[in-house]
Amino acid sequence: MNQPPGPRSFPDLLRMLFARKKNPIKLYEDIFREYGDIAFFQLGSYRFAMLNDADAIEQVLQTEAKNFTKSTGYERFKLIVGNGLLVSEEDVWRKQRRLMSWAFASKNIERIHHVMVQETQDLVARWQGKKDIDLAEEMNLITLQIISVSLFGKSQIHEANVIRESLQDMLKYLQTTKHLWIQFLLWPLPLKNKRELALKIEASLPFKDTRKFFKAIENVDRIVNAMIVERKNKKESTNFLDAMIESTDSEDNTQMTSQQLRDEVVNMLIAGHETTANALTWTWRQMINHPEVYARVKEEMGRVVAGNAPTFEELPHLVYTKAVLEESMRLYPPFWRISRKNYAATTIKGYDIPAGTNVIASIYTIQRSETHWPDALVFKPERFLGENKNHHRFAFIPFGGGPRACIGSQFAIFEALTIMTICMKNYDFEKKFSEPAEYFISLTLQPRDGCKVGLSPSGSKKS
Ligand code: HEM
Repeated sequence: MNQPPGPRSFPDLLRMLFARKKNPIKLYEDIFREYGDIAFFQLGSYRFAMLNDADAIEQVLQTEAKNFTKSTGYERFKLIVGNGLLVSEEDVWRKQRRLMSWAFASKNIERIHHVMVQETQDLVARWQGKKDIDLAEEMNLITLQIISVSLFGKSQIHEANVIRESLQDMLKYLQTTKHLWIQFLLWPLPLKNKRELALKIEASLPFKDTRKFFKAIENVDRIVNAMIVERKNKKESTNFLDAMIESTDSEDNTQMTSQQLRDEVVNMLIAGHETTANALTWTWRQMINHPEVYARVKEEMGRVVAGNAPTFEELPHLVYTKAVLEESMRLYPPFWRISRKNYAATTIKGYDIPAGTNVIASIYTIQRSETHWPDALVFKPERFLGENKNHHRFAFIPFGGGPRACIGSQFAIFEALTIMTICMKNYDFEKKFSEPAEYFISLTLQPRDGCKVGLSPSGSKKS
């Protein structure tokens, strides 16, 4: 078998495990430097193939997508997100994707664009009189608010807040590895569905945090289900949840069940804000670090956007601003990797990859690879303008690629452009954060110290 190179000896693997805990991104960089752009290693019965090669990534995400499932290990996550788009597979996913694509159609995003505008205007109004803010915190707040109001409408904002807080507690609980001992205990036993059994045991534990977690799930389900019933009984259609309720499958004419709606609502709340907030935070940092870019963005906004906020029709004309956002997501992709697992053995670039391997597309490193990006570490928004935009499709994958690419990418880009324009039309920002940014790496990539800035009304400091 011709497996890709990679760490094989026990000390090398041990070293790797420690390095992963300390700084997973650096570990990826070290591995690709040492073993090349396709690397392989095995830990017990777990096999891993790491990809930093655009053709290989294209094969996994696009050309051979049917042979790859989203990596396993989502059982606990599924307690929260159910069988929503983020984790569902095969026919369930295909049907849900058709239904949700309808909800994400441009006309539905246009329908809720006023929410993006109104909420951002409220945000900048709250900045009045403040001298310093942390744009990372503000971007988290605003994106959360926009996705909540888009989904449920302003009148339900109290319920939306309760759901959001519960979801945050739940995600925090899932990140702890405290109860993994149950899985370890069950591991040697000749049982099927050990992960499901481990979950049942976990749910029955008398610990405070465990009980709180399972109680929070019940609460979220109760509130979301009540909202769905209420919206179903309403005649008018105003928010995103209404669009999801109305969505009808073109193949069999069915609509989403209440359970599916509940799952997708929670998926939207989880997938739809932290990523966009991080993309914006990194973009602010880059713009503030590069005054010439900041000035050009501001000039474009002045030229393209007639009023204080962009209309839906004006957004596609913010070409340079979008390039700034893209260049920022190239260097700082909110999701820094994508995982898959292959059903059947396959060959990637001549290497044999056994069935059941965890195949990881490294977004962070491929987007910083000199093979695809000359002067890769230099911030140059021009790369994404006009004819310069000729990179390999799979060397720029902040929104993933292939059939499971992000369904919310247009939503996210329009939202980010709207937020940037309204903030910059009202305020100027002065750097109060330090460089280089230290990373905080969880599911998403964030600057550890946020993005602290000084505030002044737009244009007030011009001489
Ligand atoms: C800058 C912002 C965003 C980034 C960088 C981003 C990134 C991604 C990536 C990389 C994937 C693919 C994951 C994979 O292949 O395993 C994905 C999937 C997904 N994203 Fe986004 N996302 C963003 C915003 C949003 C928004 C605003 C929403 C919803 C309102 C959303 C909803 C989803 C959903 C539901 C999926 C799963 C799609 C499927 O598997 O069919 N995302 N996103």
